[in-house]
Amino acid sequence: MGVMSPTLGQEERGGARHVALIMDGNGRWAKQRGMPRAFGHRAGVNALKRTVESAPDFGIEWMTVFGFSTENWTRPPAEVAELMGLLKNYVRSDLTRMEREGVRLHVIGRRGDLAPDILEIIEHAEARTRRNDRFHLQVAFNYGGRADIADAARRYAEAVKAGRDTLEGFDEAGFERYLSTADGPPPDLIVRTSGERRLSNFLLWEAAYAELVFQDVLWPDYGPEHLGLAMEEFKRRDRRYGGAEADGVLAAG
Ligand code: IPE
Ligand code: IPE
Ligand code: MG
Repeated sequence: MGVMSPTLGQEERGGARHVALIMDGNGRWAKQRGMPRAFGHRAGVNALKRTVESAPDFGIEWMTVFGFSTENWTRPPAEVAELMGLLKNYVRSDLTRMEREGVRLHVIGRRGDLAPDILEIIEHAEARTRRNDRFHLQVAFNYGGRADIADAARRYAEAVKAGRDTLEGFDEAGFERYLSTADGPPPDLIVRTSGERRLSNFLLWEAAYAELVFQDVLWPDYGPEHLGLAMEEFKRRDRRYGGAEADGVLAAG
């Protein structure tokens, strides 16, 4: 299935098959408590764990979480190091649970800039969970929507140059096979916490027909009850994909 195909099966049941989360507000949460930003990031990992663990209860099959953007390198070096360390600990400490519960881990983003020890942990966890398909956890780390589109364009150009692909018949479905999200469906729902209302370079291509929900809760306070509220809001949305119902009056003549 191409990434842009709407997930109609789930739609009929009113659910969101793929939910993506922009986990925002860790710094403000820490500040409110007079603590350093790192304190907020650590609390954010606990919020991530309880939220991901509750996702299958809502009928969610894919969850993509924004852990580190290509722009987050501009933060102070100590904060960058903290976030790198948290990813390592998260993947290491959650691997047994993922293996046991049939979770497949996917990490998307530019890997080339990551330290060798982080790469090793990511690759090990992906390999260990690659036969799982009960739930897909996709972590966007050193990810940027524009970077991903540019990288996909480069891979496509290289494939054409090497004779592995052609220019003929090239279209959206052909292009998105080169995106790092090519293995899964597009997000049905994108949630951002902390009250900010922007995508901040997250899943730009894939977000084309996603429903957007903004919640005024800081990420470290997030949990299953907030995810439940976002899912309720999603169910009230009318997804039209640019189409329209036939006009009853005119159609009847
Ligand atoms: C989200 O929280 C975590 C990351 C971006 C890695 P922030 O660190 O952006 O927290 P705020 O937005 O400054 O409160
Ligand atoms: C987006 O949040 C990135 C992550 C949640 C990892 P930011 O906090 O970095 O985004 P801006 O700076 O508010 O747009
Ligand atoms: Mg932020």
